[in-house]
Amino acid sequence: MAPVQLCELDTLEPDRGRLVRAGGRAVAVFLVHGSVRVVDNACLHAGGPLADGAVVDGCVVCPFHGWVYELATGRRVVGARTAGDLRAYPAWVEAGVVMAELD
Ligand code: FES
Repeated sequence: MAPVQLCELDTLEPDRGRLVRAGGRAVAVFLVHGSVRVVDNACLHAGGPLADGAVVDGCVVCPFHGWVYELATGRRVVGARTAGDLRAYPAWVEAGVVMAELD
């Protein structure tokens, strides 16, 4: 799939999520230690909005019930083992614009 533009880099604040709808998906975009991270916005537990979650040590904490996901990989760190992992997407910055491959 072709890369899609998500947002301007300068609209992101460090360790704060931003909800972006693109490519038929709702994704949460983060700026963590200078790197952009993009994951599905909906928590695997009950669809909580991960873009509103706190960022702690490179992970996002779901604001609803506290499940935790590693932003670089989508790996579920806290939450039911059977839920699997969150989808994380390759993302980068091109000419000041956050890009991602949303397959
Ligand atoms: S909806 Fe995210 S932890 Fe419950």
